[in-house]
Amino acid sequence: MADYVEEVRQEILLPAETIQARVTELGRQISSDYRGRHVFLVGVLKGAWVFLADLARNLTVPASFDFMSVSSYGSATKTSGVVQILKDLEESIEGRDVIIVEDIVDTGLTLSYLVSLLQTRKPASLRVCVLLDKSSRRTTAVPLDYVGFEIPDAFVVGYGLDYSGRYRNVPYIFTLRPEVYS
Ligand code: IMP
Repeated sequence: MADYVEEVRQEILLPAETIQARVTELGRQISSDYRGRHVFLVGVLKGAWVFLADLARNLTVPASFDFMSVSSYGSATKTSGVVQILKDLEESIEGRDVIIVEDIVDTGLTLSYLVSLLQTRKPASLRVCVLLDKSSRRTTAVPLDYVGFEIPDAFVVGYGLDYSGRYRNVPYIFTLRPEVYS
C-alpha cells in the first residue's frame, strides 16, 4: 500500500482477505434467502460503494441497484443525528424486495431514518445489510438483517470509509494515528 497510508495508519483492524471472505459469505447468504426473487439493492453513498460492488458480484440472484446519498451533520468523526437527503432514489421501490446496503452503523440514526423513509414507499420487503456494526455506540435501535463484522468503538477508515474524504479506496479497514485528527 502507498506510503501516504503507512504514514497515518495506526492498526489494521480487518485485512483485505478477511473482508473478502466475509463478503463472499454474505453474498451466499443473501442469494439463498432470496432464491427465486429479484433483489433491489439500495447503496448508501458515499461509504457503501466499495462494499456494494463486492457484495453484488457475490450474488447469484438477479439484482438491480440504486443509490441514495445522505449526510449527517456533525464533526468529522461523530454524527449529530440530523440526516439530510442529498440524493434520493431514481426508481420506485414499491412492491420490490429492497435491501439497504450501508458501510457502518454507529449510533443507528442514519439507518433508522432511512428504514422509516423507505418503509413509507411500500416495498414488498425491506432488509438491511451492513458491513460494520459498532453496536456499543447504538442510541437508536435499528434491525440489522445481515452484518459483516462487529467492531469496537473506534473511528475506522478504508474499504469505502473515509476521514475528510480520504482512504475510501484502501482495500482494508484500519484506524488512524491520533495526530491525524489534530
Ligand atoms: P450513525 O448515523 O451514527 O449510525 O452513523 C452512520 C454514519 O456515520 C456512517 O454512514 C458513516 O458515514 C459515519 N461513520 C460512523 N462511524 C464511522 C467510522 O468509524 N468511520 C467512518 N465513518 C463513520
